[in-house]
Amino acid sequence: MIKIYSPASIGNVGVGFDILGAALAPIDGTLLGDCVIIKSSENFELINKGRFSNQLPKNIEDNIVWKCWNYFKKITNLKISFSITLEKNMPIGSGLGSSACSIVSTLVAMNKFCNDPLTSKELLILMGRLEGKISGSIHYDNVAPCYLGGLQLIIENNNIISQSIPYFQEWFWIIAWPGIKIPTEKARKILPKVYEKKICIKHSQNLAGFIHASHSKQEELAAKLMIDLIAEPYRINSLPNFLYIKKTIKKIGAISFGISGSGPTLFAISKNVSIAKKIAYWLSKNYLKNDQGFVHICKLDQKGTRIIR
Ligand code: HSE
Repeated sequence: MIKIYSPASIGNVGVGFDILGAALAPIDGTLLGDCVIIKSSENFELINKGRFSNQLPKNIEDNIVWKCWNYFKKITNLKISFSITLEKNMPIGSGLGSSACSIVSTLVAMNKFCNDPLTSKELLILMGRLEGKISGSIHYDNVAPCYLGGLQLIIENNNIISQSIPYFQEWFWIIAWPGIKIPTEKARKILPKVYEKKICIKHSQNLAGFIHASHSKQEELAAKLMIDLIAEPYRINSLPNFLYIKKTIKKIGAISFGISGSGPTLFAISKNVSIAKKIAYWLSKNYLKNDQGFVHICKLDQKGTRIIR
């Protein structure tokens, strides 16, 4: 028996639509992510547990864990069955890489259980393909940080899928999920198919500047360049009062603020724990829509997916 944990993640990280992602670790020690327990079994068996298991599809073949098993068998040529327990701790359609948590934990569990028939690059490619099945197009900005930890820049070139980018250890990342769902596929459809040249140039400038500032340890510059010209202007229509919230959170002292993945989770960054607490308090009072919603103060999760038992 192996138990695997995969952390939640922030896709896009403001400035890197589809190509920048960060794994999250709440500072209070909460494991914010999904877990998979795998055992051998003659027939494939899936047990769904966890706070958000009621959001999973009723039909087993629609469950991403079942799809992972099918792909894994095909690619490895192994005729193998497992008994899998999915602890679905992440809400679906939250913008926190919920599907990535299930995909990554399941594939890593299967691969470990079978003594690593797939390399980590092969696994990552498979994770991206499965993510694409759910959200409508392949993007690695949740699966890569969820698998590898830290801040990941997706390269997809010259035999490299993802690279770790140095990040500011002192930053606190405050995330707030209001308790409602926005399907990623839907949030992607509202984006333009083409962008104006001046937007493309500004976007490249911001992203390249952010990566440079991260490597050269220019914290203030990095925070200032976390500007989303690709998704935020179009997605804020589905997030009531977004501009007011952004203004208020910046006034409280956030050095950066944006939408996590395709939303509705929002994230803010502060270097100071007491400001982080104030932001968390404000968001919990003003952004949560029901008692399912949550707010966490996080650091980035360095380890990514790991065996916990
Ligand atoms: N990059 C993806 C998007 C992340 O913003 O659509 C989805 O969580």
